[in-house]
Amino acid sequence: MKVLVIGASGRLGAAAASALSQHHEVIEASRSGEVQVDLSDTASIASMFERIGRVDAVIACTGAVPFKPLAGLSPDDFRAGINDKVLGQVNLVQTGTPYVNDGGSFTLTTGVLAREPIVTGVVASLANGALESFVMAAAAELPRGIRINAVSPSVLEEATDYHSYFPGFVRISSEDAGQAYVKSVDGIQTGRVIPLG
Ligand SMILES: NC(=O)c1ccc[n+]([C@@H]2O[C@H](COP(=O)([O-])OP(=O)(O)OC[C@H]3O[C@@H](n4cnc5c(N)ncnc54)[C@H](OP(=O)(O)O)[C@@H]3O)[C@@H](O)[C@H]2O)c1
Repeated sequence: MKVLVIGASGRLGAAAASALSQHHEVIEASRSGEVQVDLSDTASIASMFERIGRVDAVIACTGAVPFKPLAGLSPDDFRAGINDKVLGQVNLVQTGTPYVNDGGSFTLTTGVLAREPIVTGVVASLANGALESFVMAAAAELPRGIRINAVSPSVLEEATDYHSYFPGFVRISSEDAGQAYVKSVDGIQTGRVIPLG
């Protein structure tokens, strides 16, 4: 299969690309990679697909959100998190669907904060929950047998800069994270959240 991984230079994206490249042709993309795309820009997404052509699977491992206590969050903070993490990935699905082969798939990335809160994690929880609901609903409407799932990991072992914000949370290896993307791409699930930790 031809698999497009967006955010492949990041921690989760690298884990996904490494696992999927064992059995598939992987195209790696990000704002600064060889294949460039900015998920905040619809024209940039369409332009990327025009350059690389149709694919069998699309994976998004992107999404930045502000981490602040609830009382310190402004409306702009909420807008920034929703624009980047939620609408970036939604935009990818909306713009990318015509470029995905029949029976192909999308795999989005959410995170454990959709089901377990941390201090400063309100915007992340909101964004993750919104994306997971989007996946559930979009699965019922995507055409031509195209599937969609979300991988929802706890904090990665290698994301040591995050560990103090996730006290007592199970830490996920890159290998296990990569296998969750393999499960979504090679499996038959759709509309599902694949939790890790
Ligand atoms: N790390 C964890 O422990 C963890 C755990 C659970 C969930 N998550 C979630 O997983 C996602 C990725 O996290 P990460 O830690 O892997 O992030 P990361 O290491 O910062 O990597 C982010 C990747 O996305 C690319 N990117 C960022 N904005 C983009 C845009 N607008 N368009 C295209 N590419 C873009 C970056 O490359 P460029 O800068 O070159 O564009 C980079 O390749 C986030 O949503 C995060 O909340 C992470």
